[in-house]
Amino acid sequence: MPSTHEHHHFNSTCVHAGYGDKECAENAHALAPPIYATSTFTFDSAADMRDTFSGKKEGYIYTRISNPTSSVAEARLAALDGTEAACVFASGIGSICATCYTFLKAGDHMIASSAIYGCTYAYMSHILPKFGVEVDFVDTTDMAAMEAAMKENTKIVFFEAVANPVCRLTDVRAVSDMVHAKNKDCLVVVDNTFTTSYVHRPMEHGADLVVYSLTKGMIGSGTALAGAVVGPASLLGPIRFEGLKDCTGAVCDARVSHALINGLKTLHVRIQRHGENCEKVVAHVAKKVGKGVDVLYCPSHPTSPYYEVSKKMLDGYCLVMAFELTGGFDAAEKFMDALKFCKRAVSLGDAETLVCAPAVSTHATYSPEARAKYGIAEGLVRISVGLEHADDIIADLEQAFVAAGVQ
Ligand SMILES: Cc1ncc(COP(=O)(O)O)c(C=O)c1O
Repeated sequence: MPSTHEHHHFNSTCVHAGYGDKECAENAHALAPPIYATSTFTFDSAADMRDTFSGKKEGYIYTRISNPTSSVAEARLAALDGTEAACVFASGIGSICATCYTFLKAGDHMIASSAIYGCTYAYMSHILPKFGVEVDFVDTTDMAAMEAAMKENTKIVFFEAVANPVCRLTDVRAVSDMVHAKNKDCLVVVDNTFTTSYVHRPMEHGADLVVYSLTKGMIGSGTALAGAVVGPASLLGPIRFEGLKDCTGAVCDARVSHALINGLKTLHVRIQRHGENCEKVVAHVAKKVGKGVDVLYCPSHPTSPYYEVSKKMLDGYCLVMAFELTGGFDAAEKFMDALKFCKRAVSLGDAETLVCAPAVSTHATYSPEARAKYGIAEGLVRISVGLEHADDIIADLEQAFVAAGVQ
């Protein structure tokens, strides 16, 4: 298993953590960690096999449990979030389901943010209740509502640090302190997909576990799906041996772990540029508020209700912003259809600027009533700001605004 990383600056951790001199020497001095394309591992003797299975001896057994390429990726992810351990999965949803199945049982209660990714919402609103788990959806930025929602049997509080799609920023410190004061065994689980560990590290603010859809900014090339849970070893053990091995089997292929390692090497450079481009796009859209744009959603903009919290929690802009068009879904459709350079697509954190209308795509799993209740407007447009030149992105958005009747 990879040795623990030495403490370096974040940028160096992106490049080196989990693959030091020892691992390099063990792998024919290959500069890049090799892909271990194997489902299973061999043992020197029956005793060796028995001791590895019983946990007396450390070693690889079968790739549904662990794999050396994935171990490098996991050590790097853990180091980036400043914690002990990580477990990679086949997708972000795989990592979320594995976490819930590991720590919840029938009769438990869970609080989930009312603004979350559509498939996470579908899982928590439709699937978990089938297993006897009660889930309440609450605005996690409303501390009074959060306190009122806590119950004796609340086992998990789940939210996205910056929420999909309305970029609502939850104060991780305030929520974690409140939750742990009421029930020290309740886990605060933060989905950090929108922000990545470059912009935000929830465990520094009191969270117990962090989950990722690595599919997005962490891999960054839009070429593979993957997910992860990061946190203390005491929690990651059960997640690996129950949530991954016995429950979901949502294993991250070693080839995808390799793509992830490559993506993480440039995380700091890419996310910095995404953020700079996002800031420019947000500044452009901000001028249109009240002139065809009803609301601008970006926690790092001074007009955001989350601006003060963002200064405490975020290192710069994240790569997603959103806005609500006064003309509702008709205007959103005109805006989307007029795009010539930006791509109409879901997902985020890729080099290409991706634009979607959440009401008919990422959040179509919410009923129209639930969308209205939770503030996901029909005229909402979400943009994952890419790595193209900011002027080219803004020029395309500008002509789309004109097509949608916004000056
Ligand atoms: C915030 C967030 N979490 C989780 C997911 C699910 O990730 P995946 O598609 O890798 O399963 C997504 C996907 O869009 C997301 O936006």
